[in-house]
Amino acid sequence: MSERERWATRIGLILAAAGNAVGLGNFLRFPVQAAQNGGGAFMIPYFIAFLLLGIPLMWVEWAIGRHGGRFHHGHLPGMFDVIWRNPLAKYIGVLGLFVSSIIMIYYCYIESWTLAYSFFSITKTYFGLTDFDSMTGFLKSYQGIQKGYFSSLLPAYIFLLITLLANFYILKRGIARGIELLAKIGMPLLIILAIALAIRVVTLGTPDPVNFPDRNVEEGFAFIWNPNFSMLGDAKIWLAAAGQIFFTLSVGMGTLEAYASYLREEDDIALNGLSTASTNEFVEVFLGGSIAIPVAVAFFGVPATLEIAKGGAFNLGFVSMPLIFQKLPFGDFFGCIWFFLLFIAGITSSVAMVQPLIAFLKEQFKISHNKATTYIGIGTFISVNLVVIFLKYGFLDELDYWAGTFFLVLIGFLEVVIFAWIWGMDKGWKEITSGADIKIPRFFYYVIKYITPFYILAILVYWGITDAIPTLLMENIPAEQIPYRWGARLFMLLVFSGLCFMVYKAWKLNKPEYN
Ligand code: ALA
Repeated sequence: MSERERWATRIGLILAAAGNAVGLGNFLRFPVQAAQNGGGAFMIPYFIAFLLLGIPLMWVEWAIGRHGGRFHHGHLPGMFDVIWRNPLAKYIGVLGLFVSSIIMIYYCYIESWTLAYSFFSITKTYFGLTDFDSMTGFLKSYQGIQKGYFSSLLPAYIFLLITLLANFYILKRGIARGIELLAKIGMPLLIILAIALAIRVVTLGTPDPVNFPDRNVEEGFAFIWNPNFSMLGDAKIWLAAAGQIFFTLSVGMGTLEAYASYLREEDDIALNGLSTASTNEFVEVFLGGSIAIPVAVAFFGVPATLEIAKGGAFNLGFVSMPLIFQKLPFGDFFGCIWFFLLFIAGITSSVAMVQPLIAFLKEQFKISHNKATTYIGIGTFISVNLVVIFLKYGFLDELDYWAGTFFLVLIGFLEVVIFAWIWGMDKGWKEITSGADIKIPRFFYYVIKYITPFYILAILVYWGITDAIPTLLMENIPAEQIPYRWGARLFMLLVFSGLCFMVYKAWKLNKPEYN
């Protein structure tokens, strides 16, 4: 067998894994989730989920990945097949290829908006649109949802194309020269930009003391961090917290496993996994929590910010932030930094979403690296059109609900069961601790074996009881969106079936031998 690609340096690997985790979720999704779900009280279920789901699954995924790499597998179908010699294992693994590919299809489009808005900030394109309605109109016309500032989707396509070319150019360069180099430059830059912005926000004081003396940044921090403990009795908050942990850490996506498969057998995973998770949390809680929401409160007050948060992450990121930049000295510069920071966060995550599929095509079909990236690049571009064209009909939201939320949790569950119960926790623990640079407390042996699977099972059961039927039947969806959302489901079904078929073919063609 040919020599497997490897990470060039340890710091590069940690930065790449952290880049995989740190994404739009940290800066847009997290503050909105916290604001909507009890402010400071959200942090209690959030940290419990981090400790009992996030960290254990992080280690499980690194372990599955490094072990799979030993058998030249960089994708979940192969990795599950090695640890569970059952014909079903590889098809469960297909879920990993499926979610990462589907998330990529909409994530790269949102990523392209951040690049566009970075450009629109520095060129002051939206300057002069000073109220919510006009800024929302600007965003909607950019997205082709309504006529307005932009008369066609052309600018959106241009930035989408640039974003895709950047992603696939990096992927074409491979692990060390592409993904690792991007992370080595991108991650420090991202952290510097985020700290600069957070400092700007913290030193903002009261922007309009004459008219709005109670709108200030302290209020903003109080709003996001003051605990509303009465909300802790609501299971929805626990669900939201767990969902955020999965999304933000990129667990349940099959991407961390793919990265870990390029480790050497004797490389550490215990400390690497923990560093990845901690870096992500630092960026999410300290930096992600200190920018968008506090600044919105300082300028618009608490009730309006709550409304913005209810409107979702896009309203916060692409409507309220541009309004604020127009009120700040050097707002064009800070706007450019904010959106560029989002772009870096996005691209270091999106390249990770493609890597499992590249590995799958290369390893199972013996396609060259260049060809694999080109095919997937073309496939992504064709598929993303559905998201672009049917955006206003909830196509993106439907993909995000299933691939970006539900399936992550399901994969997390199946993965920990396969790892701890089918492969066996003793083998699993040996894998996690071998080559370890830190001593993981034995406590986590039991967490991984008992608590993590039951915790996720409880979430799935609760979802089954409260949400499954109304969601499946689209009870709360506007009537005009329903056919398109069914279209999105059909699309996902086709992708999933196509991937299952490829796995079937691949194993027929070339049945892996494990000794
Ligand atoms: N973990 C990535 C994010 O937070 C996907 O955006």
